[in-house]
Amino acid sequence: MITMRVTSMALVLISVLLLVCGNAESWLKVGFYDEKCPQAESIIKSKVKKAFKKNKGLVASIVRMEFHDCFVRGCDGSILIDSTANNTAEKDSVINNPSLRGFNVIYRAKAKLESVCKGIVSCADIIAFAARDSIEITGGPAYEVPAGRRDGRVSLASETLTNLPAPTFNLNNLTKNFAAKGLTQDEMVTLSGAHTIGRSHCTSFNNRLYNFSTTVKQDPTLNRKYAAILKKECPNVTDKPNLVVPMDPTTPAVFDINYYANLFKNEGLFTSDQTLLSKAATAKAVKKNVAHPSHWEKKFAAAMIKMGNIGVLTGTKGEIRADCRKINP
Ligand code: HEM
Ligand SMILES: *[C@@H]1O[C@H](CO)[C@@H](O)[C@H](O)[C@H]1NC(C)=O
Ligand SMILES: *[C@@H]1O[C@H](CO)[C@@H](O)[C@H](O)[C@H]1NC(C)=O
Ligand SMILES: *[C@@H]1O[C@H](CO)[C@@H](O)[C@H](O)[C@H]1NC(C)=O
Ligand SMILES: *[C@@H]1O[C@H](CO)[C@@H](O)[C@H](O)[C@H]1NC(C)=O
Repeated sequence: MITMRVTSMALVLISVLLLVCGNAESWLKVGFYDEKCPQAESIIKSKVKKAFKKNKGLVASIVRMEFHDCFVRGCDGSILIDSTANNTAEKDSVINNPSLRGFNVIYRAKAKLESVCKGIVSCADIIAFAARDSIEITGGPAYEVPAGRRDGRVSLASETLTNLPAPTFNLNNLTKNFAAKGLTQDEMVTLSGAHTIGRSHCTSFNNRLYNFSTTVKQDPTLNRKYAAILKKECPNVTDKPNLVVPMDPTTPAVFDINYYANLFKNEGLFTSDQTLLSKAATAKAVKKNVAHPSHWEKKFAAAMIKMGNIGVLTGTKGEIRADCRKINP
């Protein structure tokens, strides 16, 4: 009896150890800065709050920033690096410039962090924390962010379009793109729900209104009434590249399931949104998210944590950048 209990306890211990050590994801840990810079997370949160107070829409872009950071060279803060005379950086790729905003929120948090705990908090971690805070402040799930990422020393615009999905992608394209980053189709569906906040440039979906295919000008999977509204907001002109529309017009600044509900009205903004209903398995997941918002929120938080582990530099790899805009000299 006793020996049995001891063996089963040993087994439990071994499996816990295996889980902790054998899992690549365990390199990052919650509370990473608790000793070296205990104020880190609260400083970042206060910068996000301040930005939100000024502009309710801006924080959406910080959620997108984490996605664009992680899918290109892993979550290494490479999205934050400025271009130089010799190098066009990720942030200046057409996929990020001018649409990606919120850089200053990260740069300001970094400046404050350097003044209180110099050389400790990575730029990659700042994005991960700030993305979490942005989700929470817009009404999404709160979750703990495993940290300990270090910053990369390379940022190439040429790597963005080959790694990030396009709004014209179909389900197949999206599934492959996420699989290449170790994310499942279901996690892709879950993370697409981030399009419940923020806005898009007309240029990102204009083709669905005016130039869809060789046979039809307007995408037949786009609700005709919604298309008419979009056409007013996005006229068929090339001289107004700055026009934007909300991604979820029902509740544009609230992190909720309306993005998924819109799909059932054929009101997904991008092909890559509406395509989630094109196959039974993904349509079922979308339906479940609408019916069980808190279930989706849990899955969303878990998927963000998983995305936050893509290609991370830990230990002695990479560096802690002193200025998020520049690699250390
Ligand atoms: C599934 C494939 C995805 C595609 C094709 C895609 C594409 C896009 C595009 C084209 C925009 C509009 C940019 C603009 O024109 O201003 C956008 C915005 C946005 N995306 Fe995605 N995205 C995808 C997945 C994600 C994921 C995984 C996240 C985060 C978890 C995300 C978060 C956002 C947010 C929050 C915005 C609004 C940004 C703002 O208001 O500035 N997206 N996305
Ligand atoms: C940029 O390239 C030029 C010419 O190839 C070189 O002289 C210069 O040192 C480079 N600058 C940086 C910052 O790498
Ligand atoms: C997207 O999928 C279509 C067919 O499903 C394929 O022809 C096309 O090459 C794919 N595009 C990309 C970028 O993967
Ligand atoms: C939109 O404009 C383009 C170029 O100006 C033109 O070729 C196209 O036919 C227009 N589409 C519609 C639906 O008016
Ligand atoms: C319309 O789409 C075709 C490809 O389907 C593209 O070659 C053409 O440049 C587009 N025209 C406009 C005005 O965007």
